[in-house]
Amino acid sequence: EDEEYEKLSHESKELLLSLPREKGWGHPYFYSYQDIWYSPGLIQAIISFQNHFQSKESDIIITSLPKSGTTWLKALTFAIVNRNRFSPSQQNHPLLTSNVHDLVPFFEVNYYGNNQIPNLSNLPEPRLFGTHVPFNSLPDSIMKSKCKIIYICRNPFDHFVSFWIFINKVIPSSMPKLSREEAFERYSNGVTEFGPFWIHMLRYWRGSKVMPNKVMFLTYEDLKGDINFFLKRMAEFLGIPFNSDEESNGVIESIIELCSFEKMKELEVNKNGKFLQKYENKHFFRKGEVGDWVNHFSPWMEEKLSKVIEDKLGGSGLSF
Ligand code: A3P
Repeated sequence: EDEEYEKLSHESKELLLSLPREKGWGHPYFYSYQDIWYSPGLIQAIISFQNHFQSKESDIIITSLPKSGTTWLKALTFAIVNRNRFSPSQQNHPLLTSNVHDLVPFFEVNYYGNNQIPNLSNLPEPRLFGTHVPFNSLPDSIMKSKCKIIYICRNPFDHFVSFWIFINKVIPSSMPKLSREEAFERYSNGVTEFGPFWIHMLRYWRGSKVMPNKVMFLTYEDLKGDINFFLKRMAEFLGIPFNSDEESNGVIESIIELCSFEKMKELEVNKNGKFLQKYENKHFFRKGEVGDWVNHFSPWMEEKLSKVIEDKLGGSGLSF
């Protein structure tokens, strides 16, 4: 076990003993809690989040599988929601000087990740949060409130590549890097942090079908394909549609430009800054393309993942 494990409460260690365990990536082990694989510290944080978070109707929650476009979706949402406070074309926009994960923090790492119960009631409204917690494990308080959830996921082929490369960049130096084959084996078996990917995707997918006013489901490919269209849909979904003046004054285009991969990647804060004193911000920006998987997959991998996708997502209506 690792350092993170040693810091856990006695109850959490007891709980872990009762959970299925597999070899992790970036952590010695993952444990399955509510059918999802997590590193030990996350389970403790998620239970605290489930028990203590009090949602407000105006809350906006950005949800995702890691490495699916979280950074981009957070930036777009922050820019849309705050467009009257900060013009998206202004030179000192917060997105130009801060890493977006500091502007839209994650429940499970920033707020509930350090054995403390944060007081979030005084944050300015609407409060913007991020989380990778799956739909069915969100706190009751979120499910009962009228708050809005926007979810993003990504074609599993590109998702795998982005995940594997990211983990190898941030893996503690005490652990060996994962070969492509080893990582792929675990990914196809569903053993990734917050995986299996298909369960995560399907839970939000169904949530968006049953509660379309509460959950908006997006894919990275949607945004890449027609960012203008989806930006407008996001603003409508949040109840703050762009008016005709904004449309004619280029506000939408300014937000797209502000949040573009090229722009964000080149910012000083994203070239040299750190998130949680742990992850270099630059690792959140790699290639930002659809279809890079072709450079990393061999034919057997393509065949295998296609089959997993067909088995797990076939018939759900969700396709990439
Ligand atoms: P690649 O590894 O394929 O380049 P997450 O934000 O969930 O961690 O996802 C990371 C992926 O989103 C990475 O994909 C990263 O390059 C890409 N990304 C980050 N910021 C982006 C942006 N502003 N626009 C488009 N893609 C972005």
